[in-house]
Amino acid sequence: MATTLPAFTPVENSLFLTLCCRALDNRSAHPVLGDETADEIVRALDYDYERLNTNTDLVLNVALRAKKIDEVASNFIARHPDAVGLDLGAGFDTRPARIKPPSTVDWFDVDLPEVAAAREAVVPDRAKAHTIGADVTEQDWLDALPTDRPVVITADGLMGFLAQDELVSLLDRLIAHFPRGELIFNGYTRFTIWVARHAPGTRSVADQVRFPGMDDPREPERWNPRLKLVEEMLISRQPEIAQFPRVLRTYYRLQSHSTWWSRKGTLILHYRF
Ligand SMILES: C[S@@+](CC[C@H](N)C(=O)[O-])C[C@H]1O[C@@H](n2cnc3c(N)ncnc32)[C@H](O)[C@@H]1O
Repeated sequence: MATTLPAFTPVENSLFLTLCCRALDNRSAHPVLGDETADEIVRALDYDYERLNTNTDLVLNVALRAKKIDEVASNFIARHPDAVGLDLGAGFDTRPARIKPPSTVDWFDVDLPEVAAAREAVVPDRAKAHTIGADVTEQDWLDALPTDRPVVITADGLMGFLAQDELVSLLDRLIAHFPRGELIFNGYTRFTIWVARHAPGTRSVADQVRFPGMDDPREPERWNPRLKLVEEMLISRQPEIAQFPRVLRTYYRLQSHSTWWSRKGTLILHYRF
């Protein structure tokens, strides 16, 4: 029988777009990410993903950006087996099931309280994975996390919903809380924010997009002097593009020659502090 979910707000509902894209990637002949648990969750919820108007390009982009974020988190954990993992705006993402941190790592998935409560019912439990129901722009939730361990912080699909001052203050609090760590999230340029506000696929959250966009990946280094850019990953330049269908592959290969053009697509920003 399908699980009954509470009525989510439009921002909370945005979790279904990314979840369903990862499930649809898993159903494709050659998955980029291969997230079987996401697929099982969508089937168990009997979620009508047709209403989301996804397309192959979006599915591949969401799957590939999750894969890149997973790789950074896994590499960090391999170097820091005592790490804390923290996923901001986790939705029903199954990152702990994909990257399988060792039992020495505590992983915290944070989302708004309604989503966090539903997540506990929907996403299969894993040892040392904890769910926190909180608005990340608020102060107190970080108190539940250790202060003496290195952290890898991921955020997939969250930043567009935060105003710039909220993001800056969130980063300041994270950097002050942990001794050192890495941060990886999908970035939005002013152009991609414009697209999020106007594209049919994101119409339901268009009014909730609050981040103005950031064209210079080094801008966060000016927000907090401890933050250093490790890498700006442009999707067009990732090797997995070779698996994309021919038309998309050709498009991204052309795009990869131009950083300016590539920044009009999905990009992933990786920092350390
Ligand atoms: C596009 S979804 C992405 C979910 C998940 N990261 C994924 O990849 O499937 C954005 C998520 O951010 C959460 N979110 C938005 N604003 C938030 C806030 N201020 N505090 C905590 N979570 C927030 C939403 O509830 C939603 O689950």
